Amino acid sequence: MAQEIMQVSPLPPFMMNALQEADYIVHDHTHIKDPGALSKVTALVGTGAAKVDKKLLTMLPHVKLIAICGVGYDGVDVAAAIERGIIVTHTPGVLTDDVADLAMGLVLSIGRRIPQADKFVRNGDWVDDVFALTHKVSGARLGIVGMGRIGRAIAKRAAAFDMRISYTGRKAKADLSYVFHKTATELAAAVDYLVVTVPGGDNTKNLIDAAVLQALGNKGYLINIARGSVVDQPVLVQALKDKTIAGAALDVFWDEPIIDSELRRLPNVVLTPHIASATVETRQAMVALTMDNLAAFYQMKPLLSPVPECVV
Ligand code: 8YV
Repeated sequence: MAQEIMQVSPLPPFMMNALQEADYIVHDHTHIKDPGALSKVTALVGTGAAKVDKKLLTMLPHVKLIAICGVGYDGVDVAAAIERGIIVTHTPGVLTDDVADLAMGLVLSIGRRIPQADKFVRNGDWVDDVFALTHKVSGARLGIVGMGRIGRAIAKRAAAFDMRISYTGRKAKADLSYVFHKTATELAAAVDYLVVTVPGGDNTKNLIDAAVLQALGNKGYLINIARGSVVDQPVLVQALKDKTIAGAALDVFWDEPIIDSELRRLPNVVLTPHIASATVETRQAMVALTMDNLAAFYQMKPLLSPVPECVV
């Protein structure tokens, strides 16, 4: 019998195909054609952008799995899910390399002003002008906020650039020799590039605030490949306008994909459209892991990648 599931965010076409090929009946929570479906749905599927709150779960009495195709699941009310005996899965590991690659790409892009240099050439400015000197990235000081899988992968790449690495997190990691700072503010004061990798959610909301940016200072750059919510965005825009920090490279934003118009006009930023995991190879691996979690759930086998809160 075909299983009925519900998508809780837009899904890429190749994921929709995979779901249909695997014979799932996929309902869309924004256009429920058959209200009776609510009681037939047993699993929810969505990307990292999915919002699953208590209210939605109350409408879906038989849901027992929320399968997120993404490592971040800050849009899911995990406590409400657990209360209802629902397990949440995500896709850690398979996207680590891509996210770390983009983080390094953004460090180089903002430090060496690569997008600005590209524009300079395209605009014909080179004919009668000289592109201003930038600053050396190799050997500079890199601070990582959150030393999880992705933080470690960034550190590995930055080490190949001879960067001096330090980090902050809940606690110092015994197996790492990088300098540990107790707070993001302390870390910011000690580095040239501050890269944010912590998960989104209430615990990290506005972690990068005015004090952190002030500590980063007018020679420091902020890079965010985590979640927009981790940075106090209006405060960041002000700091960029006042040049109290040197620049920012951002892959994630408040209210994305609607981006603050002031931020879009600033010359000292590099902005990318939440593409850290957006390669063919990685998105296929993420979809495959999500499909495997769904299959395991319906075959009553152990789930492959439950979120830490759901690991018993
Ligand atoms: C995408 C992400 O948002 O994994 C995450 O947490 O932010 C991204 O990979 C998305 O979930 C892709 O499906």
